[in-house]
Amino acid sequence: MTEVATSEAPAKRAPAEGEALCRIDSLSTHFPVNRGPFRKGGVVRAVDRVSLEVRPGETVGLVGESGCGKSTLGRTILRLIEPTAGSIYFENRDITKLSMSEMRPLRRRMQIIFQDPYASLDPRMSVRDTVAEALEIHGLAKTKKQADERVASLLEKVGLRPDQMDRYPHEFSGGQRQRVGIARALAVEPKFIVADEPISALDVSIQAQIVNLLKDLQEELGLAYLFIAHDLKVVEYLSHRVAVMYLGRVVETAPSRELYDDPRHPYTRALLSAVPVPDPETKRSRIVLQGDVPSPIDPPPGCAFHPRCSIAEKGLCDREAPPLVPLKNRPSQSVACFKAEG
Ligand SMILES: Nc1ncnc2c1ncn2[C@@H]1O[C@H](COP(=O)(O)OP(=O)(O)OP(=O)(O)O)[C@@H](O)[C@H]1O
Ligand SMILES: [Mg+2]
Repeated sequence: MTEVATSEAPAKRAPAEGEALCRIDSLSTHFPVNRGPFRKGGVVRAVDRVSLEVRPGETVGLVGESGCGKSTLGRTILRLIEPTAGSIYFENRDITKLSMSEMRPLRRRMQIIFQDPYASLDPRMSVRDTVAEALEIHGLAKTKKQADERVASLLEKVGLRPDQMDRYPHEFSGGQRQRVGIARALAVEPKFIVADEPISALDVSIQAQIVNLLKDLQEELGLAYLFIAHDLKVVEYLSHRVAVMYLGRVVETAPSRELYDDPRHPYTRALLSAVPVPDPETKRSRIVLQGDVPSPIDPPPGCAFHPRCSIAEKGLCDREAPPLVPLKNRPSQSVACFKAEG
């Protein structure tokens, strides 16, 4: 992804402060698990009391190790998974209170793009039918001619040719399939898109194209993204703000520039230390995380990160979970660590 990171300056001007498009408040998604025949009733705290907001036209990057709850959070926000507790406000309405039929008009406004475009496209449906299906569900095309025109213009928007609309998913490359997935999401004119690792399954040479397409579409259409990714360089390039998750919780959130320049949570520091930096002067020393990610079924007491943390303090970090609080001298950055100020 180096081409992306160095090709031009990243969009760092975040949309003006103001009304959130989507705001979640203490959102939790717990999955019941049966741990063997005699031990029922455990839960996986996949998402645990997460609060976050995404403003119109903004990209919020969501990062963290595998299994920390990123996809579950993204899907819960769209109510593709039901939350266990908490609220999700979309355009100021708490959508957790809406019935599925009341949700329908809102579904247009919030869409998802998946990691694996091949798995998310029906192999028996042509591109025309795939994109037109979304138009039909929401009554956005009255006639077949209208639908065809709309599909053609959507394909052009995502960098495909209108004459490719009669083709089937297997006739496209991975990157082209992801473009079809994006066209399908755009068909219903969303304002908010959860992009769940949309480039991870693609060849490196294609990744930059898709990232730049997402960026161009954001500028043109004023889209807001929750951009879930493993690649911290790409997240830095695309995101106005970043949230770092560890074991179901957000441990740090800040404008992209601040988070990358001065990470305060030891976990964020460790994640970023593994990212190569172009300028050797600013080279960070590599922090190797000790041990594995603990189980979200039995998270450690206190701060869930403390068993792997080099600055954890006995009697403090293993007792109580630190709340996510703004830094005193930089309130735009919030950190869930007792030692963040030090
Ligand atoms: N339907 C489910 N039932 C039970 N547990 C689940 C379910 N879906 C996810 N989990 C668990 O919830 C936790 C979070 O999973 P999730 O897929 O959200 O993580 P992730 O951060 O997206 O990981 P990755 O980076 O690998 O995509 C994991 O421990 C996972 O095993
Ligand atoms: Mg995931």
